[in-house]
Amino acid sequence: MAEKEIKTIAVLTSGGDAPGMNAAIRAVVRAGLSSGVKVKGIRRGYAGLLEEDIIDMSTMSVSDIVQKGGTILYTSRCKEMTTPEGQKKAADICRKHGIDGVVVIGGDGSFRGAQKLSNNGINTIGVPGTIDLDISCTEYTIGFDTACNTAMEAIDKVRDTSASHERCSIIEVMGRTAGHLALWCGISNGSEYVLVPERGQFNDEERIIEKIRAKRRIGKKHHIIVNAEGTGDSYGMAERIEAATGIETRATIIGHIQRGGNPTCRDRVYASAMGALAVDLLLEGKTNRVVAYCDGEYCDYDIDEALAMTKDIDEHLYSLTHRLSR
Ligand code: ADP
Ligand code: F6P
Repeated sequence: MAEKEIKTIAVLTSGGDAPGMNAAIRAVVRAGLSSGVKVKGIRRGYAGLLEEDIIDMSTMSVSDIVQKGGTILYTSRCKEMTTPEGQKKAADICRKHGIDGVVVIGGDGSFRGAQKLSNNGINTIGVPGTIDLDISCTEYTIGFDTACNTAMEAIDKVRDTSASHERCSIIEVMGRTAGHLALWCGISNGSEYVLVPERGQFNDEERIIEKIRAKRRIGKKHHIIVNAEGTGDSYGMAERIEAATGIETRATIIGHIQRGGNPTCRDRVYASAMGALAVDLLLEGKTNRVVAYCDGEYCDYDIDEALAMTKDIDEHLYSLTHRLSR
C-alpha cells in the first residue's frame, strides 16, 4: 500500500510544561512550512484536540517565542485521552481537520497518547519535553538544563541565608519519581548530601546526621542537603535532623519556579533540532516514533520500545557527590 502523502501536520504540547517547548513548537512550524506542508497548532494538549481547539500556524505565529518559557499552545492533562473512546475520537478529529501527522511534545504519558493516536491511524512523532529528564530512550529532554539552572540559582540563595544563620538547609527539587535534577543540583551546588529515589537508603538520615556532626567538628558552619521530590518528607527530615543535631534546620521546597523562565541556550538548540527532526520523520512517512539524543547524535526510537526502556541515574555522578562532599 502506498504511503499516504503528508500535506498537513499539527503540533501539541502535553503534560507538565518545560522551558524550550516554545522553541520546539517554532521549529516544527518553521520546518514544516519550509518543507511545503500546512501546520496547525492544537491548543491545550489532548484536551484541546478532543474539543477541536485547533488553529492555523504561520511563520509569524511563532515569531518572538524562541526565548520564552512555558508553551504558547498551552498544555493540560486529559483523562478522556486515556480511554479507547477518547483515543478514537481524537484520531477522527485529526481526520476531520485534514491532519495527517501530529508532533507531540511532552513526556512518557504524552507519548502513550501519541502511541494510541498512531494505532488509530494518525501518524505521530514524540519530542521529549520535561524538566525531569525521566524519558529512558534519550540522554536529553527539553527543559532539563533550564530547570537545573533555576534550581541551582535558588539553592545558591538559600545557601546565603543558611550560612548567615549557621543553619542546615534541606532543599527539595522537582523530578517526580526521578532524581536527575537533584543529582545535578547536588553537584553544582556543592551539597553535603543528595537524596534521590533511585538510591533511597534506609539509613540516609543517619548518614546525614553523622556527616553534619563531622563537618561541624572541622569548622563547617552551615549545611546544604538536596532532596529529590521523589524522596519527599523534607519538612519531617528537617525536624528530625534539628532534633538529633541541635542545629537549626529549615526545609525549602523550590516548587514550580523550576518549570518557568527563559530557556537556556542549550534547551533552545536541542528543542530546535528535535522539533525539526520530528517534522522530517513525519515527512518520511514514519509514525509511532520518538526523537531522542544519544551518544552525541539525534536519533529516533519506536515509541513502544522507548516506553519499555528503563533509565537509572548516572552512577558516576552519584558517587561523585559523596566523594566531593567529604
Ligand atoms: P507527561 O507527558 O509529562 O509524562 P502525563 O503523564 O501527565 O505527563 O501525561 C500527559 C497526558 O498524556 C495525560 O494527561 C493523558 O492525556 C495522556 N496519556 C497519559 N497516559 C496515557 C495512556 N496510557 N494512553 C493515552 N493517553 C495517555
Ligand atoms: O513532570 C514535571 C513536573 O514538574 C514534576 O517534576 C512534578 O512532579 C510535576 O510535574 C508537578 O506537576 P503539577 O504541575 O501538576 O503540580
